[in-house]
This record gives sequence, C-alpha cells and structure tokens, in this order.
Amino acid sequence: MKEQLEKIYSNAVIDIENSKSTKDLEDVKAKYLSRKGEFNEIKKGLKDLSVEDKKVIGSLANEISQKLETSICEKFKLFYEQELNSKLQKEKIDVTLPGQYIPRGHVHPLTSTTNEICSIFQSLGFSVVPDEFAPEVETEYYNFDMLNVPKDHPARDMQDTFYTNIAQNVVLRSQTSGAQIHAMELKKPPIRMIAPGRVYRNENINSRKNNFFHQIEGLYVDKNITFGDLKGVLNEFIRIYFGESRPTRFRSSFFPFTEPSAEIDVQCIMCQGKGCRTCSGTGWLEILGAGMVDPNVLRGVGIDPDVYSGFAFGMGVERLAMLKYAIDDIRLFFNNDVRFSQQFK
Ligand code: DAH
Repeated sequence: MKEQLEKIYSNAVIDIENSKSTKDLEDVKAKYLSRKGEFNEIKKGLKDLSVEDKKVIGSLANEISQKLETSICEKFKLFYEQELNSKLQKEKIDVTLPGQYIPRGHVHPLTSTTNEICSIFQSLGFSVVPDEFAPEVETEYYNFDMLNVPKDHPARDMQDTFYTNIAQNVVLRSQTSGAQIHAMELKKPPIRMIAPGRVYRNENINSRKNNFFHQIEGLYVDKNITFGDLKGVLNEFIRIYFGESRPTRFRSSFFPFTEPSAEIDVQCIMCQGKGCRTCSGTGWLEILGAGMVDPNVLRGVGIDPDVYSGFAFGMGVERLAMLKYAIDDIRLFFNNDVRFSQQFK
C-alpha cells in the first residue's frame, strides 16, 4: 500500500507540473483529493489492515495528501498572479495622454457689458435691484401712469408699445423706468438703485433699432440731491466705462417723469463724428436719458417733494456696447452668429 501511495503521489506531482491553467488544476485536485479521488479509495482499504499498519499507512496518506494540497494551492496562486498581471497589462491606462479638448463657452457681449456697467454703479454706491422688482411684463400703471405719462401720450400707442392679451393694460414694458416706481413703493429714501433689463418696442428693425433691447435704469432719491449730483455721477460713469476721453455732449430734453430732463450723446466711434449710417449722419449716438425726478412722481409714491429730491437715468446697453467695441449694427447682438460672439471671449 505504501508503494501504491508513493506512486499516486509521484503521478500527482507530475500532473500538477503539467497543469497549464486553473482549469487543469481543478481537474488534478478532483482526480486525487476529492471524495471520489484516488486517496479516498486508499483510505477506504485501511479498515482491513492491522492496527500497526493502519497507523503507519494512515499517517503517510495524510502527510502525502496534505503535501499535494499545499502544492496545488501554490500553483493556483501562481496562476492567479499571472492572470492578474496579463489583465493589468492589457487594460493599462496611460494617464499622461492628453485629454479630449472641450471648447469653453463665454458670456454674451451684452451680458458682459451689463455686468460691467452694474459694477461701475455699484462702485459709486448704487445697488442692483432683484429681477422680481423690475418685471418685463408690466402693467400700464407702472410703465406709464405712475411715471406721469399722460393718457394720450403717443408712446402709449399700439404702434409703439406691445400690448398683451393676458389682461387689459398689461404690456411688455417699453422702458425700465417702472422699476423706479417699484423701488420707491418698496423702500423709503435714501434710495440709490439700478435695474438692468430687457424692454420691448414696436419698431421697424434696422441697423440701429430692434424690437427688443436692454436698458439700465438708475435712481437716486435723498435729501438735497441736485442736478450737479446727476452730472457728476453720469460723467464719472462715462469716464470709467470708456476708460479714455470720448467727446460727449449734454443736451436738454423732455421726459414726463423728470424735470428738468437731459440726454447724453457720445461721439460715434465708427466715423469719429464725421457722420455715417450708424449715427444716421449726425456724428453722435444717444446713450441715455436722465433728469430730476418730477415732483408728481414722488408724490404718487408718497414721498414728499418738499423734503426729498432725486435724479434718474435710463441708458441703452446695446448703444454703450456698440460705442465701445465699434459694432455698427444692433442686429449682430441677436443673430447668434458665433463669428461675431467669439470676438468677445
Ligand atoms: N425711459 C427713457 C427711455 O426709455 C429713458 C429715461 C429718461 C429714463 C429719463 C430715466 C430718465 O430714468 O430720468 O427713453
């Protein structure tokens, strides 16, 4: 029996050595060490042996099967390592390879111009009102009535203002000036605010006019506010915004909600004041309207015009961007042509 055991052992060692994969090893393990394996067959024969022989052969069988178990285990380990290594080799990732280029977007020139204008006024002590205090869909009450615009004023005409069918007297605002009324209703003076946003007008579209555009409204109400403050703030704004001296002119004007009223023109950058299509031959582009808040407007919102005074202004964002970047057609802002917008990265 001893020889039989040794023969089985040497056969098993050869089988282990010849195994090429974990699958082969499984077979070897089953052949020798499973319940129906060759060792168990021997162990079954032990019962016919003498007590002495049982001890010797029994312990030899145990010793040999343990040795086999260990060698099979080691070989398994070796195969696993080899398999893992080849897998790692195949699935290797080169972290130094250049990544895929994802083009980066940027803000629209009108957004960046609005942000720039707002931050200049913020540096002069004005705060930007939240959008919900300056809605684009507005009632005639805020867009006209409270701004002292007479019932028969031509600006109210359907030829100029877009009326909605939401309800009677609901319009797409034609100016951001209604934001002044909202601000004065919500807060007592001192008020120093700006309100940027989109406005709508029933215009024939051309290189200078679109049926929607953007304004920034400003309002400063406190005790002792004078026309000198208005001029000082707006001149300072122009100086910072253009960052160079640009010929400007202050003209007297009329608005129902300010008295006195003024307009500021900046020399046309396209023709240096000689006159061209963009400035319709005048050499100047109007950038804003302004004035001292009319006492009627203050009274309407419960502010005593004998105690408080204020100035207001409304500027055109497209005009300011055109004058800074020499853009000769307002429609370029809205065509979404990347050849245009990419120049403002
Ligand atoms: N709302 C005027 C417009 O759209 C501009 C304007 C003029 C605004 C005078 C003002 C102002 O606040 O005081 O033409």
